[in-house]
Amino acid sequence: MTTYKLLLLPGDGIGPEVMAEVQRLIGWINGQGLARFETETGLVGGASYDADKTAVSDATMALAQASDAVLFGAVGGPKWDSVPYDARPEAGLLRLRKDLGLFANLRPAICYPALADSSSLRREIVEGLDIMIVRELTGGVYFGEPKTITDLGNGQKRAIDTQVYDTYEIERIARVAFDLARKRRNKLTSMEKRNVMKTGVLWHEVVNQVHQREYKDVTLEHQLADSGAMQLVRNPKQFDVIVTDNLFGDLLSDIAAMLTGSLGMLPSASLGEVNAKTRARKSLYEPVHGSAPDIAGRGVANPIAMIASFAMALRNSLDLGELADTIEQAVAMVLAKGLRPGDIMSEGATAVSTGRMGEAIIAELQALYR
Ligand code: IPM
Ligand code: MG
Repeated sequence: MTTYKLLLLPGDGIGPEVMAEVQRLIGWINGQGLARFETETGLVGGASYDADKTAVSDATMALAQASDAVLFGAVGGPKWDSVPYDARPEAGLLRLRKDLGLFANLRPAICYPALADSSSLRREIVEGLDIMIVRELTGGVYFGEPKTITDLGNGQKRAIDTQVYDTYEIERIARVAFDLARKRRNKLTSMEKRNVMKTGVLWHEVVNQVHQREYKDVTLEHQLADSGAMQLVRNPKQFDVIVTDNLFGDLLSDIAAMLTGSLGMLPSASLGEVNAKTRARKSLYEPVHGSAPDIAGRGVANPIAMIASFAMALRNSLDLGELADTIEQAVAMVLAKGLRPGDIMSEGATAVSTGRMGEAIIAELQALYR
């Protein structure tokens, strides 16, 4: 049996609480002999800053490089509001993305019928929603240089961020998105701002070229990103896969996540280039929800997004698709029985703690594997 090496980076806030449920699950899987995982745990974000004055240490980066997949909890919180910019908790996540070359960020937004009433939009607009946002993750304004604040000496300062994209960066993210569309409803919507931005002009041109050359069978549409945001709340079910740049993807994926009414349910995957020899790719899996400092430490966080992120890792990086299916089935069964973490609590359901939710999912797995 293959031994898979996982690096767990629980991070801050509710990160460690939800990661503990993945650890419980990994322990159970190892114990049952269903798969074999070796795990290491590292510090990231504020937790890493407190220990080492850096948002992620070189030692942790080395562990990440050597692992088959990284599982990431969440980073940040008011406690670190005044740490130096380069050591702020988010810098740890950005370094992981950049150094591991995780250019493709997959953010599914799925609205489960049982949870449709938790959305801020009307049930009929979101029920059954199943879209995938593919966000470019290692380029654009997040990493472009120069990135500076200069004192102009006249009482004024000037801040510069640089939005920059090369052809190859747009091509490779477009391919990821087209490939996904082929496995889904065969429709891709590309979003940029070509009406004001040169990067938008190039983005539009390159996505069209990739479509013409390699993916003529997929339906391709273009929307300006602002109008796309509006369409996402007006009629989100028109979309299948959306591909967009780093900054627009950050914004649009938060909008899409909220449509589902259940931020605590949504996993995400960040993937690198496929290695031509080994067919493997670097990867990091994280829940879409953040560190939620307001509820941290109370044992009420919803562990489903973290567990679903683990399932995504099993399927995408570890060749354990069947186990992933079974875990997702167990989660659905627990929800069907009316057990709910606080964030998706509804009338008639039973509110349960983070740990109780994790135990209930394992109990269902136990039954499924009997
Ligand atoms: C996200 C987050 C990050 C981002 C932050 C924490 C740096 O908002 O993953 O969407 O802006 O990419
Ligand atoms: Mg974000």
